[in-house]
Amino acid sequence: MSKNIVLVGFMGTGKSEVGILLAEKLKRRFIDTDKIIEEKEKDRIARIFQVKGEEYFREVEEQIIEEVSKYENCVIATGGGALIREKNYLNLKRNGVLICLTASPEEIYKRTLPKKDRPLLMRSKNVIETIKELLEIRKPYYSKADYTIDTTNKKIEAVVEEIIKIIEKNGEN
Ligand code: S3P
Repeated sequence: MSKNIVLVGFMGTGKSEVGILLAEKLKRRFIDTDKIIEEKEKDRIARIFQVKGEEYFREVEEQIIEEVSKYENCVIATGGGALIREKNYLNLKRNGVLICLTASPEEIYKRTLPKKDRPLLMRSKNVIETIKELLEIRKPYYSKADYTIDTTNKKIEAVVEEIIKIIEKNGEN
């Protein structure tokens, strides 16, 4: 049985992009929990937040995480708030190695700004301040990951290589 590689961390740290390439290189299936939520709800995340609220989104997210945590040998990219719920952490950890991607607030700002699809940021009057505040609040949750990689000023390929090295070196595969 092979553990899942689970990418956690704040919005704009590259979880999905890194996850896709990592899965390709390791010949593993790629799972994106936000994408599954959108398929299940037949709506975009931003609209789910707007119409049904964050609590509803978190409930669906919890169910999806419980489901995908049963998989093996996958690369799983999670939404930035996944670890807020202890249950999600425990589920993901059961058969997964958790890798937290980080980036500076400025880099996160640059990466998320053009997309305008992050419900927790798009209504903020001072996005960089909101990013800093959320990062501070979430620090204790992200610090529970097994490994942390700073992606600031790094290409996706470089982050993928770093993850592969960590996995191999620590026998996490
Ligand atoms: C969220 C991050 C988003 C998405 C939702 C909530 C968060 O995912 O799950 O908008 O609470 O940080 P990304 O980290 O992929 O942007």
